[in-house]
Amino acid sequence: MMKDMARAREKMWAKELGCQAAIKFHSTACSDVRVNMVYTLVLALGFCFLIVQTFPLRRMETSSQIWCSDSSSGISLQAEAAASASSTSNNPLLSEFLLHEKINSSTIDLSHGDVRVFKPHGMAAHLFIEMGTYRGGPRTFSIVGLASKPVDSFHNPPYECEWVSSSSSTGSSDDEEMVVVKKGEVHKILPDWNYGKLYSVVVLTCKFKEDVGTDKQGGELILYASYGDLYRQPERIVALREVKDEYNATVFQPPYPYDYVYCGSSIYGDVSPQRMREWMAYHANFFGNRSYFIFHDSGGFHDDVRKVLEPWVKQGRVTIQNTRQQEIYDGYYHNQFLVVNDCLFRSRFLANWTFFFDVDEYIFVDPSTNLSAVLEGDKNITQITFEQVPISNEICIKDKSKNGYSRKWIFEKLVYRKVLKKGVRYDRKYAVQAKYAEATGVHMSMNMLEGKNLYPKGDKIRYYHYHDTIDKRSEVCKHFVAPVNKTEVVTLRRHYFRIDESMFALVAPTKQYEFKAIGNLPTII
Ligand SMILES: *[C@@H]1O[C@H](CO)[C@@H](O)[C@H](O)[C@H]1NC(C)=O
Ligand SMILES: *[C@@H]1O[C@H](CO)[C@@H](O)[C@H](O)[C@H]1NC(C)=O
Ligand SMILES: *[C@@H]1O[C@H](CO)[C@@H](O)[C@H](O)[C@H]1NC(C)=O
Ligand SMILES: *[C@@H]1O[C@H](CO)[C@@H](O)[C@H](O)[C@H]1NC(C)=O
Ligand SMILES: *[C@@H]1O[C@H](CO)[C@@H](O)[C@H](O)[C@H]1NC(C)=O
Ligand SMILES: *[C@@H]1O[C@H](CO)[C@@H](O)[C@H](O)[C@H]1NC(C)=O
Ligand SMILES: *[C@@H]1O[C@H](CO)[C@@H](O)[C@H](O)[C@H]1NC(C)=O
Repeated sequence: MMKDMARAREKMWAKELGCQAAIKFHSTACSDVRVNMVYTLVLALGFCFLIVQTFPLRRMETSSQIWCSDSSSGISLQAEAAASASSTSNNPLLSEFLLHEKINSSTIDLSHGDVRVFKPHGMAAHLFIEMGTYRGGPRTFSIVGLASKPVDSFHNPPYECEWVSSSSSTGSSDDEEMVVVKKGEVHKILPDWNYGKLYSVVVLTCKFKEDVGTDKQGGELILYASYGDLYRQPERIVALREVKDEYNATVFQPPYPYDYVYCGSSIYGDVSPQRMREWMAYHANFFGNRSYFIFHDSGGFHDDVRKVLEPWVKQGRVTIQNTRQQEIYDGYYHNQFLVVNDCLFRSRFLANWTFFFDVDEYIFVDPSTNLSAVLEGDKNITQITFEQVPISNEICIKDKSKNGYSRKWIFEKLVYRKVLKKGVRYDRKYAVQAKYAEATGVHMSMNMLEGKNLYPKGDKIRYYHYHDTIDKRSEVCKHFVAPVNKTEVVTLRRHYFRIDESMFALVAPTKQYEFKAIGNLPTII
């Protein structure tokens, strides 16, 4: 019902826009008339793209079926398409189904036997889903998206990119607009370790042999995504549009606006606002005033969590990216590889270092040093991974005072770390100098272009992991240690735990910092 309505509306829109469904488009046919026609096409495509962007979700899912062209050139293209189609087949069933998908059926011989018709319905996966495109300098761009996993795995489709610049020729006035097209080279990276289901995360680096758009005249980065078969034309995607005077070479060079950027993974589920508040206060203090936090809301930032973060958002310290739509496209684990890669490029020229870890994890630097000293110690290091300290999420020290542990912050009351077993591999988290990364992952980047990786032991820098606490609303303390005996090794379910009060020591400074930065909040939220 909803779908029918959407489809009817889509048809209406298509008519309004002069967009025609099912017109075969042959890009090389335009080479002779490139100067005028391609430019109008680009504009028309751009317009249609913009309109499509403003539609609600349901429309976006099917929007790839709309083929837009401006109405005047549409006629000639349609005529051409009809001519080429008629040479091979007049079979109405074939064209009815296949033209809808812009199939080139010229190699399919239907002249003998009982012709069987295959009727496709619906759509299993889109060829390519854009999330973001970012400039990496005067001649490189990065495109982050999802690709149909079967198409990518079994057809290994080629990607192409080009820069279409609009530069007005000097001297003569008004209508002397020139369109210059430069071809780039695409390097594809699949950063998700093949974990994706229907979709794989792809990061495409588009590189040009010379600077593009640096004349500040504006232009467009075009991506051609292919199906890797004989029958379908590549999809032409306007991945990035730069307006006149938008290009600014300064932004790619340090000093950057922040010291540190945090990139959060996809957050979903019933996140505790109090835990979020504690994490935020701790890290705002830890990274210092010149730090910036990028969160990704895949359903977990409900009203109460947003309320807790609001003062930080208002101060410009935090942005919450609403990525809830990604749930429609089944990649891996709420598309976490997709959002971390998008964030990598978003953060690239915001700070020297970008951190990747979760909201139940707390980065810690030993008081004998500081973060800047750890990171900037060796200029050749472009990536650092951190060891994990797993914290028991149920052992607390007995507290007989009123309200007791229930009003304490998570790193105030959970102070027993698991004694690590030999031979067990514990996850690490990491920070990179994002400008040197071509793509990234959840636990580290395998795609650093320059520099060395550092895998330090946890004595100087490490992270405390309060596993399974972020979406708990009930009291976490379940096992209690007597205060007089608190330094003894605790045994619980055949694991050993030792007291570790490093984080506890930062409770008071964190609370003070929060108070100074955003004012008085209730003791517990
Ligand atoms: C259709 O496919 C044939 C055979 O591969 C090719 O020669 C022709 O150029 C294609 N036509 C279009 C419009 O792509
Ligand atoms: C270019 O970027 C720098 C750094 O962000 C900024 O200070 C400057 O004003 C920008 N220049 C223009 C012309 O926008
Ligand atoms: C960032 O890196 C540049 C170049 O290595 C350096 O000069 C600068 O001090 C660094 N900034 C910070 C905040 O560490
Ligand atoms: C960090 O430590 C280094 C070396 O010990 C020192 O020079 C620097 O001033 C410290 N930075 C901060 C922000 O305390
Ligand atoms: C950094 O790398 C350069 C070039 O490989 C090398 O000459 C230099 O010694 C290295 N510096 C450090 C501190 O390792
Ligand atoms: C302290 O620990 C010892 C050994 O585990 C135990 O026998 C003793 O009862 C504990 N004392 C208190 C006050 O819990
Ligand atoms: C950081 O911000 C806090 C709260 O706004 C402020 O009290 C403090 O003085 C600032 N620290 C620095 C070093 O600017």
